[in-house]
Parts: sequence; C-alpha cells; structure tokens
Amino acid sequence: MPTLDDNRLLLSAFDDEATNPRAKFADIQTTPMFYITTPIYYVNDRPHIGHIYTTTIADTLARFQRFRGEDTFFLTGTDEHGLKVEKSAADAGISPLEQADRNAAEFTAVFDELNMSNDDFIRTTQARHESQVQTFVQKLIDTGDVYLGEYEGWYDVGQEEFVPENRAKDSDYKSPINGKPLIRSKEQNYFFRLSSYQERLEALYRDHPGFVRPDARRNEMLGRMRDGLMDVPMTRTSFKWGIPIPNDPEHVIYVWVDALFNYITAIGMGDDSLPEAERRKYWPAQYHVIGKEILFFHAVLWPAILMALDIPLPQCVYAHSFWIREGRKMSKSLGNFIETETVRDYIEEFGLDAWRWFMTTQGPLGSTDADFADSKFKEVYNTDLANTFGNSANRVANMICKYFDGNVPDATDQSFDDDGDWDWPTIAESSVSTVAHHLERIELAHGFNAAMDLVRKVDAYIDATRPFTLAKSDAPEDQKQLGYILYNCAEALRIASLYMHCVMPWKIAAFWEMYGQSITPGEDTLDGLSSWGGLKPGTVITKCPPLFPRYQEPK
Ligand code: MSP
Repeated sequence: MPTLDDNRLLLSAFDDEATNPRAKFADIQTTPMFYITTPIYYVNDRPHIGHIYTTTIADTLARFQRFRGEDTFFLTGTDEHGLKVEKSAADAGISPLEQADRNAAEFTAVFDELNMSNDDFIRTTQARHESQVQTFVQKLIDTGDVYLGEYEGWYDVGQEEFVPENRAKDSDYKSPINGKPLIRSKEQNYFFRLSSYQERLEALYRDHPGFVRPDARRNEMLGRMRDGLMDVPMTRTSFKWGIPIPNDPEHVIYVWVDALFNYITAIGMGDDSLPEAERRKYWPAQYHVIGKEILFFHAVLWPAILMALDIPLPQCVYAHSFWIREGRKMSKSLGNFIETETVRDYIEEFGLDAWRWFMTTQGPLGSTDADFADSKFKEVYNTDLANTFGNSANRVANMICKYFDGNVPDATDQSFDDDGDWDWPTIAESSVSTVAHHLERIELAHGFNAAMDLVRKVDAYIDATRPFTLAKSDAPEDQKQLGYILYNCAEALRIASLYMHCVMPWKIAAFWEMYGQSITPGEDTLDGLSSWGGLKPGTVITKCPPLFPRYQEPK
C-alpha cells in the first residue's frame, strides 16, 4: 500500500499557485504540454447542449493553448458499457454494440459538424481501451486495493452507483439525480478500498486547493469526505455488457471505473506496445472538464485509483454547472431539452462563432446554473458581436479604405496631442495580460470580455478623437493625425482578435483576411504576434460586408 510519503511524490506535479495548472509543470517537464479532457458521453442518449457545451469549453481552451505554441492534446469520446446501454439496446431490439456504434457515430458527426478540434475520440468498447483497463484492474488486485467482498445497499440504477445510507435517507430513498426510487441490492463484488485513501485525499485537498474548482464544488467534496468514504464496488454480476474482470469473467468492471480509465488509456499508459504510448508525455492532464453531477467520481474516486496505481494526479478537475432553459430545468420529461436540432437552428441563423461566443461567455462555468434564454442570445449577439467587434472592425477598415486607399497608415510620427489619455502600447499590453491570465484559469467570460473591452476602447477613442472630422481637412498635420489614430485603432483590433481566435476561429480568420494578416495559429504564436507595432504600415485592408450583421426581430 502506498504511504503518505508516496503521496508527496505524486503531488510534486503540482505548483504553488492553486489556480494556474500550467505553471505547475515548470519544474517537472522540459517541454510545455497541455492535456485537456471532457467526460466521455453515454451512448444511450443523443448529443445535446450539455455535451456540446463541455466539449466547446475544452475545444476553446485547446485552441488557446495551441496558439500559444503549447504541445496540446484534447480528448473526448463515448462511454459505452453498463446496464443503461444494455437496456436501451434491448428496448430497441439491437445488440449493445450496435446501439453503441450508432450513437457514437452521432457524437462524432455532431462534433465534426461543430468543428471540434479533439485529437482523438475514445470509445470504451475499443480493444485498445478494454485491454488496458484489464491491466490496470489486475494491478489493483495485485496490490490488494481491489478485493472480493459482499455488499448490500441502496442502488441508483440511473447513476449506476450505490448511495450511502445517510444520503439515501436524506433523499427519501429516491435518486438524488433523477428522483426514481433507489433499489435495495445485494451483490458479491470486487471492491476498491476507497476508505483507505481518505487521509491522502484530505491531504490532497488541503495542500492543493486548486485540485477541484470552482471553490464551491471543492467544498461540496470536502463535505462528502467528512461523511466518511466507503469502499466502492468495482464490478457487477447483474449484467454482461462490460469489460470482464481478469480471471473471473462472471464479474464485469463497474462502468464508472471503466470510463475514468479512458483518460489514461487514450494515451497508452497501460500498454507500451500501443502507438498511443507515444502520448504518455501528456500526462498528467491539466484539466478534466466535467459537469457538476459527476464530480465525486472525478474528484474522489479517480485520484484514489491513481494513487493506488502510483500514477501522478491530474492538475485540476473543473466542474461546471448546468444550462437551464428559459428559467426552468431542462428535462426529457418536460420536453424542453436543447437538442442538437435546436443548436443547429441557432448556428444556421447566427453562425458557429456566435454560438461559441454565447456558450463560453454566458455559460455555467461558475458554481451557479446559467439560463439559456432566446432573448439573451440575441441581445448578446447584437451587443458584443454586431455592435462592438463587428462594427468596429468594419468601421475602421472602411475609414482606412476611404482615407488611405486601403493602406495601413504610417504612425511613426506620434505627434498627435491626445492629452496622454491614450497610451495604446500600454493599454494593449495590459489587456493582453488580463485576457491570458483569465483564459489560463478557465475564466472564459472574464477573459473574452477583457478582449472585448479593448475593442470598446477603440470605439471610445474614435468618439473622442473624431477621425471623420479630421479627414475633412487637407492640412498635412491633420492627415498625419488621422493616420496615427487609424493605425492605433487597427492595431488594437488586431491584438484583440488574436485572443478571440480560440472562441471564434472562423470569424477571426475572416477578420484577418480583411486586415491583410496571414496567420497560422500554432506556427505563429500568440506571444510573438501580441506586441504593439506588429501591424505593418502599408498592409492592404479590404472593405468587406459586415462580419456580424445586426439581428433584427422579424416584424
Ligand atoms: N459517461 C459519464 C461520464 C464519464 S467520464 C469518465 C456521463 N455521461 S453523460 O453523457 O451523462 O454526460 C454528462 C456530461 O454532459 C456532464 O458532465 C456535462 O459535461 C454535460 N451535461 C449534461 N447536461 C448538462 C447541462 N444541462 N448543462 C451543461 N452540461 C451538462 O456522465
């Protein structure tokens, strides 16, 4: 059994700053790496806004880190074993694998359609996953962390988990998640000795407050641990659709344990001979991004399993809250779930970039749920995209086209007296560091709003300096000032656009084309492009139709 001292070793992967997982790696990795995961989604359901949301968050962060030049690996996939899949396949009169194939194909099709940039898509029915899970479980049996025992308790069929007596009682013996009655169940099972990791887990939470975020979620887990941790059944005998325990095929591995392993099987941590083993350099992951309902598995069970296997822990489990719709919880029975079809309607009308902007800036990343209201979507679209970024981008381009034949003016002569209110290099630099600070910490709304603030400053600058009035004068001095002002505007917009690329890759690419920028994120890096003065005088700017046409309510 590992001791508390070993724990220190495992934890050496963490740094001091609780909220910045990237910085943590400085002393243990020579190459910068970024590994981010989403939950793997159940194939008894079809993709909906929840799956799309989490995957979009991870995609945005992966794109941000790639643009920074980080070696990035972004993983998503499907969770295909378990009773629920077995049952829904039986209801549909097909085999569980057929059911899994169909729905996994739906997930990959939707993620392709939404241009997710995941580097792999793992399915738990793949041989590469199954064989490694068996290896890991065998190791746990060998170390004594998994043992054969008997358990009787309250079972939540929907969640596929036993619920402790006190929680079962609190929820009136109904599922705290879906309200269906809990079932009294008795099983001879293999158990994982979660109880013996209580102390090490508490130490982990104490020493690394950033392990679970946001804070409210961390406190929730501390509360769960205070109730005392029970050993967890690792296998089931009541159904067949799962990975058999090595040498005891009557028992299939608990779907949650099977699923959690995806984060390390996709990078070949359990088998040297797989091509995936080349990806081991990515471990430990910086972020497991998940929804709040599956936090316990990720924040308590998963680190304990990793401790038992002597594998370093991920840097941060980030559990976001839920989308609700027009003020009401979404549910299949209310029929108000935002399914892929509805997502598609928004994308058709407003574009994929606008959809992503709304997801990332208005979504439930914090500890409270977020409301998906149609009116809010349209308001945010008009305010941020049509009236702010889009309007500024088109307005500045149009002025440069009109007054300077589309050539970016030279601003080397900075004689214009603006009372010192507009020190643009400093304004831009401070904005860049604010945005990066927030994005590193998954504070996406803060980060992107800080980028949008830079655009708002351009608008305020235009209002204050009135270039269109200066343009009416032929005096060389006025023309110089006009050039200086428009250079500053275009350059500030270029810098803001760099930090909005990860959320709106296609619209920003269109903006770059309009502003004569040839940028390949990853080959060109954010740091290299962000300094003031990167926009070269003489660059050709083209007049374009509005990037984000204003939305108008139909009469
Ligand atoms: N298969 C497990 C996860 C295993 S991970 C090792 C599972 N799958 S799921 O298909 O139910 O997906 C759950 C995830 O979908 C949530 O954790 C969250 O990421 C996302 N969402 C589902 N409904 C959601 C909302 N209403 N709002 C936001 N995201 C939610 O659990």
